[in-house]
Amino acid sequence: MHFQWYPGHMTKARRMMQEDMKLIDVVIELVDARIPYSSKNPDIDELAKNKTRVILLNKYDLADKRYTELWKHYFEKKGYFVTLVNSKNGNGVKQVNEVVQKACQEKIERDRKKGILNRPIRAMVVGIPNVGKSTFINSFAGKASTKTGNKPGVTKGKQWIRLNKNIELLDTPGILWPKFEDQAVGLRLAMIGSIREEILNIQELAFELIKYLVQNYKGNLSTRYQIDETMDVLVNMNLIAEKRACRMKGGELDLEKAAGFIVDDFRSGKLGNITLEFPNQEEPQGV
Ligand code: G4P
Repeated sequence: MHFQWYPGHMTKARRMMQEDMKLIDVVIELVDARIPYSSKNPDIDELAKNKTRVILLNKYDLADKRYTELWKHYFEKKGYFVTLVNSKNGNGVKQVNEVVQKACQEKIERDRKKGILNRPIRAMVVGIPNVGKSTFINSFAGKASTKTGNKPGVTKGKQWIRLNKNIELLDTPGILWPKFEDQAVGLRLAMIGSIREEILNIQELAFELIKYLVQNYKGNLSTRYQIDETMDVLVNMNLIAEKRACRMKGGELDLEKAAGFIVDDFRSGKLGNITLEFPNQEEPQGV
């Protein structure tokens, strides 16, 4: 499978990000808990140099708990402040405030020594498309927050959301580009739906997904589709198409449609809590 990317957008996004970085103290980076490595932007370390870093393992409701904990340790060992979030239902969102305060403790101390008291921490949310940035901001900001409007001179044209007396959040998230050289990374991004459907081969995607699940999550597919996981992948694709009544006009099985079902079921969590890559000392392993 081959993936296409959009370098033109990247250049503009990078420039904007560099500008926004000047305005903030802490970067809140969302990654997808099912693929924390592949959904992490490769250039953010350079862009966010000298900034305090918080990582949110978002969509943890869809990921495998065992690995989410391992990923949390993995990033903590690298010096990030990390917490788990389900932006959709709000679980873990409250804790983000505490984590940001903790992450910025040194800065708050430094300010205090300089006589600067009660200056709110300025934060920006960043992440690749579809990782949940808008959902998170809505949930984090809630109803109580107020937009502070433009700050002449310093933050021209920027809107800030005052979360409480301690934190202000840039109201537009920074959209980052994903890693794009490694095909395995591309495949995982495609599986969670971060790559536009038009450029995907959905059958191939479902094929890879089935192979991965049979190997790493025995029983999940057979529970949902009553298939025999020891059989060949193609046999099972046909069986799923049959069971789901995926047929073309002429009556033959519609594997494309069946593949769509499988991928959708995975993305919405109907195939269980699944993580597609695992941390280890060297490179993360997975699909
Ligand atoms: P973005 O700004 O980073 O591009 O992402 P956005 O907030 O639009 O979220 C992308 C999709 O991910 C949305 O689903 C959103 O509901 C879902 N999402 C965000 N955070 C979580 C989470 O923690 N858990 C789960 N399960 N889903 C999450 P959608 O299908 O595009 O919209 P909707 O049908 O949910 O409204």
